[in-house]
Amino acid sequence: MPKKDVDLKLVAENVGHSSRASCGSCHFNGGGGDAVKHADMSRQLLEPNRNCDVHMGGYDFTCTECHTTRNHKIAGRSSSVPVAEGEVTCQQCHSDEPHYCGSLLDHHLNKHAKTLDCNVCHAPVYGKCKPTKTWWDWSKAGDKKRKPKKDKYGKPDYNKKKGEFKWEESAVPNYAWSSGYMNRIFIGDKVNINADTINLTEPVGSINDPGSKITPFKMMGGIQAVDADHDYFLVPHLWPRNKEDSTAYWKHFDWEKAFQDGMDAVGLDYSGSYKWKETWMYWRLDHEVMPKEMSLSCVQCHESLKGDKTCNRCHQDNRNVDFKNIAHKGTDFSYMKSQGRDVEHLINKTDYINFKKLGYKGDPVIHGGRFTKLPMGYEKHE
Ligand code: HEC
Ligand code: HEC
Ligand code: HEC
Ligand code: HEC
Ligand code: HEC
Ligand code: HEC
Repeated sequence: MPKKDVDLKLVAENVGHSSRASCGSCHFNGGGGDAVKHADMSRQLLEPNRNCDVHMGGYDFTCTECHTTRNHKIAGRSSSVPVAEGEVTCQQCHSDEPHYCGSLLDHHLNKHAKTLDCNVCHAPVYGKCKPTKTWWDWSKAGDKKRKPKKDKYGKPDYNKKKGEFKWEESAVPNYAWSSGYMNRIFIGDKVNINADTINLTEPVGSINDPGSKITPFKMMGGIQAVDADHDYFLVPHLWPRNKEDSTAYWKHFDWEKAFQDGMDAVGLDYSGSYKWKETWMYWRLDHEVMPKEMSLSCVQCHESLKGDKTCNRCHQDNRNVDFKNIAHKGTDFSYMKSQGRDVEHLINKTDYINFKKLGYKGDPVIHGGRFTKLPMGYEKHE
């Protein structure tokens, strides 16, 4: 259905392989601007530094090297839309036991990969090379007098058309159990409008489900409108259709008109009264893999391994092995800080993923994993 003024000859002469730029022409701008929706997708992926994304930077991967295609169907599941054209996994290239370099950490790292999504360790922060929008309050839009201020990253906190924003750079993900499935709210779905907050997307998973893994997410928060009588979200008409448009919010700054028109367009009734509601979305973090020496490692999660006793809590000391040194490898946040990243508060951090919040009694080295308990298993093995 091309528009009449599209030059199909020019299009035909320019068919070619896709590139980061061609996929990115849409995906870097998800949510209406660079780095707005996906934390890990932005124009910096055109020519990324190796530290920003080791595959697309260090190894110059295109998108379709991972998102393989067949008959124009692009593999890869999204956190928001339920369309499935096949999945992409780290394991399809790296296998279920990706640590094989003969390091003394390989055994435990491979075992962890059964409980932890790879990117928990391999992408410990998001929005690493460019701040991403994490809060979007539509209810504040339309204030003619308010002047946008720049935050510490130089990003605007306000836009009259869109409302109030917050941005984050090198932020710690929210970690949650995920089976790979998501709950989602669609246009017209009834929601509990008396709840303090409503999750528009959230992972389905549990510490008790062997198929669930701890998975990193960017949280996108905001304030959006719900119909106060019908208990569903309202779709506003934003963009003026033409010069005569009499309802678009971005022309008239009148929510009533914009909701009426938007809901007519999606075929749902608008009762005429609305409420602002806090909403949250979970966006899984699939990109921005850091170089291997910048992965999270033992002491960044296990406080129990931080002191004098490290591996020798369980393993016999060996004169030729410096356990302490090995246990203390991992992401060097001081280095990242020296590169200008906003990570000072992460230097020397431990319990990085917050074991208790995930349902553990505490550090699993002391209190046991979700299905096994050391050191009992350790004694049996020896
Ligand atoms: C013309 C715009 C456009 C281009 C170009 C584009 N996409 Fe998309 N893509 C979309 C939209 C829109 C969606 C669904 C909305 C969303 O992201 O939530 C989507 C969804 C996806 C999904 C999730 C699919 C699902 O079934 O859940 C993947 C993966 C994806 N695109 C990868 C790519 C890759 C790789 C390329 C380049 C080969 C590409 N896209 C080019 C617009 C585009
Ligand atoms: C190193 C491999 C790799 C590369 C390179 C890569 N991706 Fe992905 N991407 C993934 C994986 C893994 C997922 C998760 C897909 C799944 O669960 O099926 C994903 C997910 C996505 C999603 C869905 C995200 C969401 O939560 O909604 C989109 C969109 C996407 N990629 C677009 C792109 C685009 C555009 C590029 C190029 C600029 C790209 N990817 C490059 C591995 C990659
Ligand atoms: C508990 C944290 C953790 C998890 C989970 C994890 N990794 Fe790693 N990974 C590391 C660390 C730390 C290194 C650096 C190893 C070293 O210094 O010996 C590493 C190294 C690697 C390397 C480089 C090769 C090597 O053996 O050094 C690859 C490739 C890799 N990981 C892929 C993956 C994939 C794919 C997954 C998911 C299936 C995964 N990792 C899960 C922490 C982790
Ligand atoms: C299309 C295949 C493919 C996919 C999918 C893929 N990788 Fe890789 N990855 C590679 C290749 C090739 C290399 C470079 C050679 C190597 O180190 O094995 C690499 C390198 C790495 C490294 C080492 C980087 C370094 O320091 O040199 C890590 C860590 C890693 N990948 C993790 C991941 C994670 C995590 C995912 C999923 C989000 C993933 N990979 C998805 C192919 C892939
Ligand atoms: C990203 C956080 C994270 C990192 C990094 C990490 N662990 Fe763990 N570790 C966990 C979690 C979560 C469990 C519980 C797994 C379960 O429920 O089975 C665990 C469990 C363990 C256990 C006891 C359970 C078992 O059966 O293995 C040991 C021992 C352990 N880790 C050692 C290590 C060592 C050694 C390293 C460094 C190579 C390391 N961990 C790095 C999160 C981490
Ligand atoms: C809480 C106890 C515990 C801690 C702490 C621990 N390990 Fe282990 N480790 C085990 C157990 C138990 C095994 C036996 C296999 C299993 O159950 O995973 C093991 C197995 C291994 C193996 C594989 C040995 C083989 O024969 O294949 C290596 C290598 C290893 N650990 C290295 C380390 C290093 C290095 C550290 C510190 C960074 C460490 N471990 C910390 C309990 C521990």
